[in-house]
Amino acid sequence: MSQFALFGHPLAHSLSPRIHRAFARDLGIAMEYRTIEATAENFAERLAEFARAGGAGGNVTLPLKELAFGLCDALSPMAQRAQAVNTLVRSGSGWLGDNTDGSGLVRDLSDRHRIDLRGRRTLLIGAGGAARGVAPALLDAGIDKLVVVNRTAERADQLVDLLDAPGRVGSRYWEDLPALGDFELIVHATSAGRTGGKLELPFGLAAPRMVAVDLNYGEAAAGFLAWARAAGAEAAIDGLGMLVEQAADAFERWHGRRPDTEAVHDALRAELAHLPSGD
Ligand code: ATR
Repeated sequence: MSQFALFGHPLAHSLSPRIHRAFARDLGIAMEYRTIEATAENFAERLAEFARAGGAGGNVTLPLKELAFGLCDALSPMAQRAQAVNTLVRSGSGWLGDNTDGSGLVRDLSDRHRIDLRGRRTLLIGAGGAARGVAPALLDAGIDKLVVVNRTAERADQLVDLLDAPGRVGSRYWEDLPALGDFELIVHATSAGRTGGKLELPFGLAAPRMVAVDLNYGEAAAGFLAWARAAGAEAAIDGLGMLVEQAADAFERWHGRRPDTEAVHDALRAELAHLPSGD
């Protein structure tokens, strides 16, 4: 049976195995999907072991997406632009690296939530791996100007350089948040909610009919989404739909068929109150 795995740490509460097994069951595809705990120190070794054991494909989550980028023999254009990999496809003796986080986010917003992203003035809060993964796809989806704000300014500048879209993308200092004007789309991509940090964001960032998205779900997304609702957001969306959609895109890369995501999404959403946060 073909072997698939999720690499990351910690993975105890990961929903990915459940999502992929449900897709495989629905499409009648025989495969195994397991979790392989790996840290930055031993990821290369674990991945090589998995390849030797006949591993056909993988997903990569925190904190390994940038490392995975460096371990691939070939890269999709999206992985190249994000310089981060969340999907591995076996190619010969090595791995082709892809990134489906951005396509997953855009599909969740566009198809599930019926949000027209085109022309939206967009603020991206955070410039780590999660922000990198989604920024290129947001630009491709036709958002208007993208402003990147990050606690550590250098990292915001690096992301702006990477996106290479002069005139469309710029960085601002965190201290300048109260003076940036308002945005029609705000994407929260920091890990603060997962690590107990609290963001103080001015309500003035919210344009009328603003859409707010947190790439996390569950408790980790609660603080930002509460701020967004208090700021008058038309929609405050967590990252559960993105998680399911990025998984479906990865599944399609491996098996050539895209699963229907509604049933899996709805089941997880119904349980969300009881689910821990994470991938
Ligand atoms: P991820 O893969 O989740 O993006 P990461 O690459 O470690 O994880 O990036 C974490 C992001 O959350 C960064 O943008 C980080 O800001 P710094 O670059 O300044 O570290 C941001 N972040 C984490 N905790 C934060 C906090 N308490 N306030 C603001 N930003 C925070």
